[in-house]
Amino acid sequence: MKAALLIPAAGMGLRLGWDGPKALVDLGGAPMLAVTLSRFAAADLTPPAVVTVPPGQAADFDRAVSALSPFPCAFVEGGAERQDSVLAGLESLPDFTELVVIHDAARPLVSPDTVRAVMDAARAHGAATVALPVTDTILQADGAECLAETPDRSRLWACQTPQAFRLDIILDAHRRARREGWRVTDDATLARRAGHSVRLVRGTQENLKVTTPFDLRLALRLRREERQ
Ligand code: CTP
Ligand code: MG
Repeated sequence: MKAALLIPAAGMGLRLGWDGPKALVDLGGAPMLAVTLSRFAAADLTPPAVVTVPPGQAADFDRAVSALSPFPCAFVEGGAERQDSVLAGLESLPDFTELVVIHDAARPLVSPDTVRAVMDAARAHGAATVALPVTDTILQADGAECLAETPDRSRLWACQTPQAFRLDIILDAHRRARREGWRVTDDATLARRAGHSVRLVRGTQENLKVTTPFDLRLALRLRREERQ
């Protein structure tokens, strides 16, 4: 099955509070997106990778990242929300694509082993996501910041990327979502809602999502550790 890579990178990083798109923030000498792309250097992927970018910024991204990327990238304008960006990216994938790996630019420390494991699971199963069993007890609040209920922690996993899918499955799920007005924050949830089974593949804590300034500090330290 020929596989392609899709990197949503069109967010503005409002919670990070940096003056520019989050994917281009410096992560120890290179833009975060370049670090993220480097994690896929050894994966069985056919170029180009499709990268969604904020409207009007394709040339800036190309300048900042292409020379550092292990393979050619096609920069495609994203949409208002992540889900819109992913659909735009899916519709721009190269014609050969049978399997797609979707990975957020904001998770620059994913390991090659995790990439391989989720791709293998999707090849065998049709749809798979990386996720991590939660260690905190999760509280569901009512609308007034009071405790409504406490779901059984032993069945809770925190969702990560990469997620990998047979292209027909994830395109069908996204198109249904557009028709029915489903709004979610990851793609595996859409595949599940469209009736597909999704395999969970155990991730790592290092594969954190850079969302807040604290996450960026942590990612910088982990990256420094890796390079020592
Ligand atoms: N993303 C995207 N298109 C959007 C919004 C987000 O491609 N319209 C991408 C981001 O670039 C990121 C991933 O989806 O790689 C996960 O999103 P998130 O961590 O929420 O990033 P931002 O939306 O940039 O951050 P914030 O929500 O704080 O503004
Ligand atoms: Mg966001």
